[in-house]
Amino acid sequence: NIELEKTKNRLYEINREAAIYFYKNLFNNGNAFKYLLNRGINEETIKKFGIGYSPDSWNGLLYYLKGKNYSEDELEKAGLIIKHRDGTRYYDRFRNRIMFPIMSTNKKVIGFGGRTIDINSQPKYLNSPETLVFSKGINLYGLNIAKEYIRGQKIILVEGYMDVISLYRNGINYCVASLGTALTTNQVKLLKRYNAQVYTCYDCDEAGMKATDKALDILKEEGINPKVIMLGEGMDPDEYIKIYGSNEFKKRIDNALSYMDFKIQRIKLKYNISTTEGKIDFTKNIAKLLKQFKSPIELDAYIKKVSEDTNISIEAIKKEVFNKEDNST
Ligand code: GTP
Ligand code: MN
Ligand code: MN
Ligand code: MN
Ligand code: MN
Repeated sequence: NIELEKTKNRLYEINREAAIYFYKNLFNNGNAFKYLLNRGINEETIKKFGIGYSPDSWNGLLYYLKGKNYSEDELEKAGLIIKHRDGTRYYDRFRNRIMFPIMSTNKKVIGFGGRTIDINSQPKYLNSPETLVFSKGINLYGLNIAKEYIRGQKIILVEGYMDVISLYRNGINYCVASLGTALTTNQVKLLKRYNAQVYTCYDCDEAGMKATDKALDILKEEGINPKVIMLGEGMDPDEYIKIYGSNEFKKRIDNALSYMDFKIQRIKLKYNISTTEGKIDFTKNIAKLLKQFKSPIELDAYIKKVSEDTNISIEAIKKEVFNKEDNST
């Protein structure tokens, strides 16, 4: 479809022009630039990620791009301007925000994430809407950069733009973020191309742990054997690496939990295993998970672990794993 391709190419062009506009504006706005410096981001990293700033104006970008002969209709299609309620005029979607261009792996600008630098302004992050060239669920933030450094080794999935950027700044340059949505199957398929050990490193809060739980299941379904990097209480990767540095972060990578270790840890939180009943319910729940193991060695190792945790005999747990037909708890 030639018409569609033409339109898409226009949108890529527009996004690229907008990224340049935001980038230039960053250096004209002391507050925005300082905001990034205060967060530990240096100029080299700003350049690498093409970070910019959308001025505190209702139509700065609109006029700039109209001046480059893009129509309002096209700019709206790109998700950069919004039609006013009265239907007579448009205004810029992104105002007074740090701008993160989102790029495809072939380095086309497909959309933006914008972080407010005004603490009173909501939402904290605003993303481009879905457009002809941007779909959140099939792209990963930072993959255009991380792909140069993965080299079949490691890839780390994090929650946010700032996590990717801050880790990069600190020498951990193989990180990607899932664009504020739960990890999707399509994103995992994208990851699989790089044949690397996949780690998750989500924020160490309840939301992050829940998201990890879900992400692990999706990764598993796609045949990936993920590991989980756990950070200290409440921290996200950006906060962690700023306090402890990259060597400590690398130790966390080395000590990442296996899928099953993470699951066991999560399930343990649900039960009080100092009581007999808690031990029983916990063990039954784990037994269900252990059924999926094909390797007898792995199975044995985890059964031993659960047995140590609960004082329930290895034989009994084994029987539970192999014999139980119905799964009621
Ligand atoms: P900083 O406060 O800048 O360090 O951001 P963060 O990445 O630590 O934020 P948080 O952990 O709250 O969120 C992680 C990611 O979720 C962000 O990078 C965004 O992609 C997304 N997100 C967070 N808040 C919002 C929001 O208000 N709206 C939308 N659409 N996405 C959000
Ligand atoms: Mn949040
Ligand atoms: Mn969070
Ligand atoms: Mn953060
Ligand atoms: Mn966070």
